[in-house]
Amino acid sequence: MNLKTTLLVTNALSILLFFIFLFISYIRMFLSSEVLVLLTFITLLAGAISFVTHLLLINPLLKAVKGVSSEAKRIAEGEFDVEVRETGPKEIQELAKNFNTMSSRVKEMIDDVKESERLKTELIANVSHDLRTPVASIRSHVEALIDQILTDEKTREQYLSTIKQESVKLSELLEEVLQLSQLERGSVPFHPERTKVDELLVSVLSSFERMAEKKGIEFVVQIDEREDSILIVPQQIHRVLSNLIENAIRYSNNGRTITIIVEDSGRATIFRVTDEGEGIPFEEQKNIFDRFYRVEKSRNQAYGGSGLGLAICKEFVTLHGGEIGVKSVKGWGSEFWFTIPKE
Ligand SMILES: Nc1ncnc2c1ncn2[C@@H]1O[C@H](COP(=O)(O)OP(=O)(O)OP(=O)(O)O)[C@@H](O)[C@H]1O
Ligand SMILES: [Mg+2]
Repeated sequence: MNLKTTLLVTNALSILLFFIFLFISYIRMFLSSEVLVLLTFITLLAGAISFVTHLLLINPLLKAVKGVSSEAKRIAEGEFDVEVRETGPKEIQELAKNFNTMSSRVKEMIDDVKESERLKTELIANVSHDLRTPVASIRSHVEALIDQILTDEKTREQYLSTIKQESVKLSELLEEVLQLSQLERGSVPFHPERTKVDELLVSVLSSFERMAEKKGIEFVVQIDEREDSILIVPQQIHRVLSNLIENAIRYSNNGRTITIIVEDSGRATIFRVTDEGEGIPFEEQKNIFDRFYRVEKSRNQAYGGSGLGLAICKEFVTLHGGEIGVKSVKGWGSEFWFTIPKE
């Protein structure tokens, strides 16, 4: 029996019970026939009013319950964009409210799962794409060496050097993918220690000496004396600075200057790496911290890397509680900055 019928039958039964009571009272002579008629009339009237009131009250209740039930059915059918109107009696409104909270949480969870599936597929596609080129190149060079079609020593050396370069690219890519996945999983330890800013910068810049020299690029460094030492995980901020400086060199023309500034903003230390390179179009700037994002879309490996460097920088800076960003004008250069909070 449905809810409406149950409530109406209950109502009818209580009226019937009252009639039986009246009838028994009349038979037993407790009531005169006039009183019986009067009481019957009153009971009939009260019964009719109660019946109509029940009907009027049940309808909104039923509507609200049906609303929740039909939206629950939609969820069961795999549709998660559902919302119940919060109307009807207070308890039903509460039920609808809780139902809406539940359905929006379920939708969020489903969206998260879908997004992580999409990212996984994209990751596999990008990694496979970026692996294919160096692997194919190594393979063709090794085949040529095995087939001994190369007779002169100089060409052989060139081939071996290409194989070495391509293997370095491969291991760099694999290292970046591994690093990023560890960061995203939250399994990278975070134990900050007091670190001298000048020593950190000397260590980073010395590893780029040759690369900068080859392009005739000069470094200018300015460190605010108040920023003598900061609380960081040195290897992680070393990595951030290395990625930013590597980009600055890679995306600058020969003979340009790269400026590294460390300054005090009161509550944080700000690092700025400024280049006079090609710059980044404004509409691309919000995307470059996404993993695998490159402004140059063909993913030509002769020009640029895999697009993981800045995503790794962002993860490390976030781990330190800081922020990272860019200011850039196409054709003029870029300034990458990040902050390290002092507390
Ligand atoms: N200093 C810069 N000047 C101009 N463009 C830049 C600069 N830094 C980054 N970009 C652009 O942002 C993109 C993403 O940079 P990111 O460091 O994440 O990747 P990548 O340098 O291509 O590869 P990876 O760092 O993984 O070797 C680059 O491909 C490049 O298009
Ligand atoms: Mg990079």
